[in-house]
Amino acid sequence: MAEIKKATGLIDWLDQRLAVNGFIRVMMTEYWIPKNINFLWAMGVVLMTLFMILIVSGIFLLMYYKPDIKLAFDSVNYTIMQEVEYGWLWRHMHGVAASAVFLVIYIHMFTGIYYGSYKKGREMIWLTGMALFGIFSAEAFSGYMLPWGQMSYWAAQVITNLFGGIPFIGEALVIWIRGDFLVADATLTRFFMLHVLLLPLVILLLIAVHFYSLRFPHVNNQDSETFDFDKEAKKYLEGRKKESKVVPFWPVFLSKDFFIVGIALTVFFYLVCFHYDFAMDPINFEPANNMKTPAHIYPEWYFLWSYEVLRGFFFDIGGIAAMDIGLAAFGFANVIFMLLPFLDRNTMHTAPAHKRPMFFVWFWLLLIDMIVLTVYGKLPPTGANAWVGFGATIVFLVLFVLLPIITKIEAKNEEGAES
Ligand code: HEM
Repeated sequence: MAEIKKATGLIDWLDQRLAVNGFIRVMMTEYWIPKNINFLWAMGVVLMTLFMILIVSGIFLLMYYKPDIKLAFDSVNYTIMQEVEYGWLWRHMHGVAASAVFLVIYIHMFTGIYYGSYKKGREMIWLTGMALFGIFSAEAFSGYMLPWGQMSYWAAQVITNLFGGIPFIGEALVIWIRGDFLVADATLTRFFMLHVLLLPLVILLLIAVHFYSLRFPHVNNQDSETFDFDKEAKKYLEGRKKESKVVPFWPVFLSKDFFIVGIALTVFFYLVCFHYDFAMDPINFEPANNMKTPAHIYPEWYFLWSYEVLRGFFFDIGGIAAMDIGLAAFGFANVIFMLLPFLDRNTMHTAPAHKRPMFFVWFWLLLIDMIVLTVYGKLPPTGANAWVGFGATIVFLVLFVLLPIITKIEAKNEEGAES
């Protein structure tokens, strides 16, 4: 065993057993972040804060929530909202944070796309980020079921039904997921387990791997500049702080992040107290009724773009049912972002979109198209709406087919310019 000396204090005692000083140095005080970044690089820490709010508010809600189809609706809408002191506050915090987390995830994700932060060397950051997006989506969907209102029930009905479209195993899979032939009590209790235990554990693990995968390739910067972090860190440690291109994660980077987190929390509590309704669908204040289908079934705003891709093909093509084409397009939309590091064929050169003319146009077309899909995803899919949805779905699919081609041309042009 290593020699253990008499400890000079608690930190020294822990250091001799857990190497806490080494850990703090590697992950905090000597983890170097480029200086050339803006407020968009604070979104990761804002996400972390929102996730903490979701956990704390969720624990308070758990004290009164009842995962039983006969009791769930009243436990939320009556017990928590009206009987328990400040129950409404924890519920509004949980609902608003669930919506806000997706807004910030989209900002964080599109910042990564704009600055090419998914490219060579940073693939693992991107892949773990996209895995987080997937699990967060499952977490939001399972949480939406818990109040057992009309939208909870019918969204569960529609989404679990989607698995029925998978060839051969579809039907059996739907029954397996629901735990019954219908969306019923067994469905609610298993989604409750996923929402409060299994998925949050996976999220915690993925956040740790996401952070760890940032440690070696380092965070990108506004000019996507590549430089020697060790050399810049040496300058900083020697006191040439102005000359150095980096700052330590703690205390410099995080103290600036805390300022942005402060602004985000001010907006957050304003929404919680005065505009919480944007995160709650009025139809969900009616108890679930399997005999009464709502006129329009739609998901929360953050899933609308992919929901519209699912509905986009509203007519059969060449004997293939519209439903099957929609399902294939939906599957494509849900995995394609994950593949971004491999679809961008300009692998060697990382640059922000405004220095990549073709990619710049691609980026903005994608963003505008996803906003159009989101808007039309909430409207009834009839008449002109159905055609706009169809057009926007085609644009979405074509953009991803074009990406490898335009980035290959871009790489060739750059090679030509260099030689
Ligand atoms: C709860 C979820 C998440 C948390 C807590 C989180 C946290 C963070 C943090 C703290 C950073 C470093 C600083 C920054 O750029 O903000 C970061 C960077 C990054 N994250 Fe996430 N993230 C999450 C989800 C995602 C998602 C969904 C994606 C999309 C794929 C993603 C992709 C990235 C990328 C590409 C970077 C590197 C940025 C750069 O190098 O400039 N993250 N994340």
